[in-house]
Amino acid sequence: MIMRIPFGYERMFEIIKGLQSESNIVDILEHGCLAGHFTRFLRDNGFNAVGIDIDEKSFLEDYVQKGYLINLASGAIGKYFGDKQFDLILANRLFSLESTRVLVAERYARGNLTIFPETDVLDVAMHNTETILEASLKQLKPGKFFVSTIDGDERPTATREMVERIGYKIIQFEPYEMILKT
Ligand SMILES: C[S@@+](CC[C@H](N)C(=O)[O-])C[C@H]1O[C@@H](n2cnc3c(N)ncnc32)[C@H](O)[C@@H]1O
Repeated sequence: MIMRIPFGYERMFEIIKGLQSESNIVDILEHGCLAGHFTRFLRDNGFNAVGIDIDEKSFLEDYVQKGYLINLASGAIGKYFGDKQFDLILANRLFSLESTRVLVAERYARGNLTIFPETDVLDVAMHNTETILEASLKQLKPGKFFVSTIDGDERPTATREMVERIGYKIIQFEPYEMILKT
């Protein structure tokens, strides 16, 4: 049933279709889903998708009611999902310095942070990325996938060394796109 792909997810969906042609992809977890438009798109296209975000302000309300969108920090998925494992975990426009800068600035503006560690944003961003990758590895079925894409003008926060140290196998690793396997 493919409807209009949410803006900014065109490449991500292309990758998912490619993976689907070689492996059974049903259960999907989306980190940093924002409003949840892509999670909804995936469900409309037959996937069993759930989206999480640390910020719930723009969540699609009906999808929250159905339990498809969850206000959760990505590092806490183990606590929340327990033994549940997914075929694919994705992060769209999340693993970049710019994405973390926005997050930090918003929290600072809301008073959730008392200091704005501008000089340390890259450290914060890389730590966030590493935490998400580590937590995700435990929630993936054997032989299944983690995919991340970011915009071409953003600064990536995942490194080859990082993903290999955590224990992923690299299928593809380019500055703006990575496909990993357990
Ligand atoms: C730049 S936005 C991208 C939103 C959407 N994926 C897209 O491509 O349009 C990054 C999102 O990731 C969320 N995020 C970043 N770090 C997170 C974390 N550790 N746990 C949960 N959500 C996180 C932010 O709240 C934000 O909504």
